[in-house]
Amino acid sequence: MTIKHLFSNPPISKKVLIKGWVRTFRGNRFISINDGSCLQNLQCVVDFENTPESILNKINTGTSIEIDGTLVESQGKGQKIEIKVEKIKILGECDPELFPIQPKKHSLEFLRENAHLRVRTNTFGAVFRVRSSISYAIHKYFKENGFFYVNTPIVTGSDAEGAGEMFKVTTLNINKADVNNKNEIDFSKDFFGKETNLTVSGQLEAENMAMGLGKVYTFGPTFRAENSNTSRHLAEFWMIEPEMAFYNLKDNMDLAEDFIKKVLKYAISDCKEDLDFLNTRLINEDKTKPENQRNELNLLERLSFVVNNDFERITYTEAFEILRNSKNNKKKKFKFLVNEWGVDLQSEHERFLVEKHFKKPVIIYNYPAKIKAFYMRMNEDGKTVKAMDILFPGIGEIVGGSQREERLDVLKSRIKELNIDEKELWWYLDLRKFGTVEHSGFGLGLERLILFATGMTNIRDVIPFPRTPKSAEF
Ligand code: 4AD
Ligand code: MG
Repeated sequence: MTIKHLFSNPPISKKVLIKGWVRTFRGNRFISINDGSCLQNLQCVVDFENTPESILNKINTGTSIEIDGTLVESQGKGQKIEIKVEKIKILGECDPELFPIQPKKHSLEFLRENAHLRVRTNTFGAVFRVRSSISYAIHKYFKENGFFYVNTPIVTGSDAEGAGEMFKVTTLNINKADVNNKNEIDFSKDFFGKETNLTVSGQLEAENMAMGLGKVYTFGPTFRAENSNTSRHLAEFWMIEPEMAFYNLKDNMDLAEDFIKKVLKYAISDCKEDLDFLNTRLINEDKTKPENQRNELNLLERLSFVVNNDFERITYTEAFEILRNSKNNKKKKFKFLVNEWGVDLQSEHERFLVEKHFKKPVIIYNYPAKIKAFYMRMNEDGKTVKAMDILFPGIGEIVGGSQREERLDVLKSRIKELNIDEKELWWYLDLRKFGTVEHSGFGLGLERLILFATGMTNIRDVIPFPRTPKSAEF
């Protein structure tokens, strides 16, 4: 049985058998054990007089054990039920001198260095249960709304975002690889007979699938070799990319907003215990900060605020005006000043809009074409494209999406403008030749959503084994 099961439906006076890891062992009598099924530990009361010393000596924080006993109502304070132990079996010993995870507060940095063991702490147990619940909620949402789950390739020849931040995939020995007459590596000799890389987005292939299945989504690992060592960037992250035939930009924004709200709502009810714990953790952490750096709303309040309020929707041009006329801009408090229409928004600008100005999630749409990818639908003004980004408090960009350019001639000229090799995209252009339709989609960064849901502040703490510049341990 799992501990979660015992707490939710306690078979009082019945014999039970559980397996788990010791969190603490007090007074040779009280074992607190956790099996990962839920946040709570179960107290097991040992009859130490009848338990061999050889066993008692092996019960340390971290030891894995099997406990046989009777479930009873607890006499002590702090827990409703406990196990009156009849038999203990040591499954795996744990040397208390060597085990890094002790029953005390560890810093997140220390735990990151021990990412292989950190899931045995309350905080990381909670974070990864919430992550699992949210992943489930995402599939559930799409299933209930008529979407099909598709898998797009991880090895690809294209750079969907055109940012050139790709990890190369090759079987060539690059020190000894053949070169062509321009002294470039000859990739025709490579495994796939062409240059390939890890995908930066499944969008282009998802568009292909939507042009037959109607509404599809991908949910998979995504790789970006951007050298941004920030608390919001991973080199390997998980992205959810829905793509819908016959959707325009407004439909796309409506879907994204509804999707995020429903997924968070699911987590709020499914992860009550873990979110309560993370909420308390954050409240305590806040108390150690100076007053002006504390959060106005606690974690649970932030979640319910997002679920129950409309996101603000503004055009890039409106956002630009707000920023240009802001005190921060006039007093030169922004590192990047906002003076010229067309500038890309930096995270300081996004945070200003979301955290200071609107104090709620904001969707910015109709961005200048210059700062967005080649596939976005050009507006009638010839300057802006039907792009949309969703910005969240404390996180910044959480979703990026757009209506797609469905007109072959316009798309071709954009591709040319940006010096993209048209031949590489023949299959993508084919969609515009054979029954093209208006369509849209977006990408949600899973880890950024988990950051928001758990109140964690570093993206390395919401993925089990983070990949970041100069770090691929575990
Ligand atoms: O805005 P992005 O680059 O959009 C796309 O890739 C589109 N092809 C999506 C689409 O329309 N189908 O990325 C989408 C989201 C971002 O908003 C962010 O949440 C997340 O992916 N993201 C990252 N998350 C963690 N680490 C990184 N390095 C990320 N880069 C993007
Ligand atoms: Mg983006």
